[in-house]
Amino acid sequence: MNEGLITVSYIGATILFILSLGGLSNPETSRRGNLFGIIGMSLAVLATLIGLRVPSASNYALIIIGMAIGGAVGVYAAIRVKMTEMPELVALMHSLVGLAACLVGFANYLDPSAASHFVGAAKTIHEVEIYLGILIGAVTFSGSLIAFGKLSGKIGGKPLMLPARHFLNLGLLVIALIAGKVFLNAHTPEAGMVPLAIMTVVALLFGIHMVMAIGGADMPVVVSMLNSYSGWAASATGFMLNNDLLIVVGALVGSSGAILSYIMCKAMNRQFLSVIAGGFGTGGGTAPAAGAAPAGEVVAVNAEETADLLREAKSVIIVPGYGMAVAQAQHTVYEITKLLREKGVNVRFGIHPVAGRMPGHMNVLLAEAKVPYDIVLEMDELNHDFPTTDVAMIIGANDIVNPAAQDDPNSPIAGMPVLEVWKAKTSIVMKRSMASGYAGVDNPLFYKENNRMLFGDAKKMLDAVLEKLRA
Ligand code: TAP
Repeated sequence: MNEGLITVSYIGATILFILSLGGLSNPETSRRGNLFGIIGMSLAVLATLIGLRVPSASNYALIIIGMAIGGAVGVYAAIRVKMTEMPELVALMHSLVGLAACLVGFANYLDPSAASHFVGAAKTIHEVEIYLGILIGAVTFSGSLIAFGKLSGKIGGKPLMLPARHFLNLGLLVIALIAGKVFLNAHTPEAGMVPLAIMTVVALLFGIHMVMAIGGADMPVVVSMLNSYSGWAASATGFMLNNDLLIVVGALVGSSGAILSYIMCKAMNRQFLSVIAGGFGTGGGTAPAAGAAPAGEVVAVNAEETADLLREAKSVIIVPGYGMAVAQAQHTVYEITKLLREKGVNVRFGIHPVAGRMPGHMNVLLAEAKVPYDIVLEMDELNHDFPTTDVAMIIGANDIVNPAAQDDPNSPIAGMPVLEVWKAKTSIVMKRSMASGYAGVDNPLFYKENNRMLFGDAKKMLDAVLEKLRA
């Protein structure tokens, strides 16, 4: 394929990726966005394969075998993964991008043809590209593996607070800078390998330490930040391989991840730098954490009483959370919504930006159940409507409806914007127990006078409520 045609294919793929990102920003256009992404990636792979600089049958055979193995693993993972395990899968994928950047960096440095290709300033620039590529790749690799461990519960959610951790980070940075200077002054690949290996170990340790120090409710920012890093790692690989498309696509992923991190920080009322510095949040899922322990008694209701409350309501706001995803209750939620709407009840959904375990988690589930988009509103769009709402129905959500975020300055989630469900006439929380949510913080909402608890698996309880409503 001639150079011109490859360039045109690369530009076409870039445009498709931009259209894909645009499409993915809205549930109504997300399918089309995905399709653009698939076509763009196919075009990119095809153009890269055809444009190989030293094409040979054995090269192609190796690449095809690699693609078949990778593709099979990808298809298997995509079919098997549950919706609730999606964030872990994404974290694992980010780690692979980081690993690839590291391996390409080492291979590129040791490649004798590349070494003879660059002289003078070009050689220094190429080595800086390699050094940065491996550095970002290694941080992304180890950080993403730890994020995977934390999201899947294999590693505790509690932030690891080593003494003098900022100095430790600073020390690692200084070692990486010194190793960088030695690397650039090395005259042979053998001499350069030592500082390169030292920096890789330092970067791996930094990635582990950075993510270990972040806990609880701050994890969404980490996931989107690692997403951004994986983009920059790909971009650095593009520079190493002199591949314009990889540079552009990496930059697209890197910058969109950075924007997402900013949106997440805003949603949680956190400063990006203080999240990176770590130490926010605690272990999740079990015992209540710091902050004033709520007092009082909880009032439990059954499915029939819940159906009665819904039947008498004129307006209902449903707040879904991670538990709805675990229980796969979205279809029953929509059945109940349809029934209530037929009876003239104004039913709307309130979506918190970090509900669930990944950006847009609830929107995807509700779209899958065919809930109309116009009744799915963001937190800011309907938070002021709770005082005029009869029933706020909270389905498997916890941290995102925790009033301690507003009332208790000592709470680990103090300052995080939340859905003000307690301002409704009655709120009903559906969950299995009194356990805390992901941030590990006790929730005073459960003890409020106008709150009711419907204990049990969300799907089972909602099925029972639906049956009572139909009766
Ligand atoms: P959580 O605060 O984690 O609360 C979910 C609740 O669902 C739990 O308290 C659990 O209580 C309940 N639950 C679990 N399985 C259930 C089932 N089968 N039926 C009924 N209830 C069930 O979730 P949230 O309110 O959606 O808040 C999200 C949290 O995750 C935030 O802290 C956020 O920072 C964090 N996070 C978010 C993301 C993104 S990007 N969205 C990524 C990582 C972390 P029981 O055990 O008592 O049932």
